[in-house]
Amino acid sequence: MAYNHYILTCGGTGCESNKGAEIYERLIAEARKQGVVGEVQIVKTGCFGFCEKGHIVNVLP
Ligand code: FES
Repeated sequence: MAYNHYILTCGGTGCESNKGAEIYERLIAEARKQGVVGEVQIVKTGCFGFCEKGHIVNVLP
């Protein structure tokens, strides 16, 4: 299934310790609230390499 948008939220150790689980759950809840579950895929990824910047979220496109 192809999605219109992808939200990549870092699941690396640094970001997970900086509210990673909470951010992931809130993204899922907001997608449901907005009715866009079939349009956007929310995925936990590995480390982006910017750990010191805080929790990293990448939205494509
Ligand atoms: S742990 Fe998230 S960018 Fe490294």
